[in-house]
Amino acid sequence: MTVAKASKISPLDRTAAEPFYRQIYDRFRGAIASGLLKPGDRIPSARALTKELGLARGTIEAAYSLLAAEGYIQARGQAGTIVTPGLKPRMPIAAPMPQSNSGIAAASFRPDSILPFQMGLPALDMFPRKIWARLGARCVRAMQPSDMVHPSIYGLPVLRAEIAAYLQVSRGINCSPSQIFVTSGYRHTIELIAHSLLKVGDRVWLENPGYPPTRELLGHMHIAAVSVPVDREGMVISDGIKVAPRARAAVVTPAHQSPLCVSLSLPRRLALLDWAARNNAWIIEDDYDGEYRYVSRPLPALKSLDRDGRVLYAGTFSKVLLPSLRLAYLVVPETQVERFEQITQVFAAGSPELTQAIVAAFIKEGHFARHIQRMRKLWSRRTEDNSIPHVTSTTSEMGHFRKWWRNAVMSGRCDHVLVDPRIQTFAVRRYVIFLAVSSRMER
Ligand SMILES: Cc1ncc(COP(=O)(O)O)c(C=O)c1O
Repeated sequence: MTVAKASKISPLDRTAAEPFYRQIYDRFRGAIASGLLKPGDRIPSARALTKELGLARGTIEAAYSLLAAEGYIQARGQAGTIVTPGLKPRMPIAAPMPQSNSGIAAASFRPDSILPFQMGLPALDMFPRKIWARLGARCVRAMQPSDMVHPSIYGLPVLRAEIAAYLQVSRGINCSPSQIFVTSGYRHTIELIAHSLLKVGDRVWLENPGYPPTRELLGHMHIAAVSVPVDREGMVISDGIKVAPRARAAVVTPAHQSPLCVSLSLPRRLALLDWAARNNAWIIEDDYDGEYRYVSRPLPALKSLDRDGRVLYAGTFSKVLLPSLRLAYLVVPETQVERFEQITQVFAAGSPELTQAIVAAFIKEGHFARHIQRMRKLWSRRTEDNSIPHVTSTTSEMGHFRKWWRNAVMSGRCDHVLVDPRIQTFAVRRYVIFLAVSSRMER
């Protein structure tokens, strides 16, 4: 049974001609019709609502009697009063949803359906629930009063230490726990970097095609995005230098370019690092899924080549564990730790301590490394089992897609080639979530 909802009823209109009982009745009916209150949801008891609204008990009872008589609610004795199970209220005509210009792209960032190979989602069916439940119960039992107050705004010390150790071993990054800032996700990470190191009017290289949230977020902060093309070797650094040699930063996805999936080649990595060192520019390495690579060992992170302290490394638990954890991290160069601490003190509220403690235990006890191995195997098997385009670090997603599409046409699964966004819509409906690369292109 769900907990009592709508216990916070906004003040009633004392000047209205409608009696109070009718106003209360209308509010509950409206909440049920709009889906805010669902069948089976508990509503506050008449006694509790009487107290909260400061009205006579008879007024509340009159409203509840009317709702019950019309079949909206049911009194269940000790179990309280609930919205009638199985009720199918007639919905009021919904206001049209505002349409965003980039409807397709927006849907793929916060998907409302879960399909195989959906970009942005790990294999949710493989999440190690049993281990998580065990660690979760243990962490709750171990909680001390000091764990119940505000968490450290930089991140739980034990998690920062585990991340530092993990990065050293798995991604070749040498850093201390104090260089690690736990964030609530990529956008928070970019916001923290922008507040700390960038200013209004600065120019930043972004990959084209790229990951739209970066452009969106920087735009809101009045930082100008400079589109730099991507080819088989990743971002074309020479083009960036041609267009905006004095840019303050470059955001790159070196392990798997998003969305084309190519890796940034070694000569390009070195050229980027060289440009940053000469110009005192920053490189933001978005290593959102660097753990995954199916053809060989994962490439070391770009950060592992950073001799001049120009790279800020952004990692996340969204791809290996769950996006709903809302836990990510940033590694900042040693020289910038103090600056990031100052900015964090102003802007950050900290991430949930209990979740951080569970993730720390998960890493410490070796479950994280085992889970990554399991996921790697699973993805390579799933990509082989389905002759649909897949992600490797050597072949572009587009290339795979063309091959898959040709096979689909030849085997009669679809009869003609559609233009880019329609291919995406088609694929979403029939097979998998598919991203039209054109939706991530700046022209
Ligand atoms: C390119 C890219 N960067 C970063 C992220 C990570 O985002 P978050 O940590 O907010 O889940 C994603 C997730 O889909 C992504 O696709």
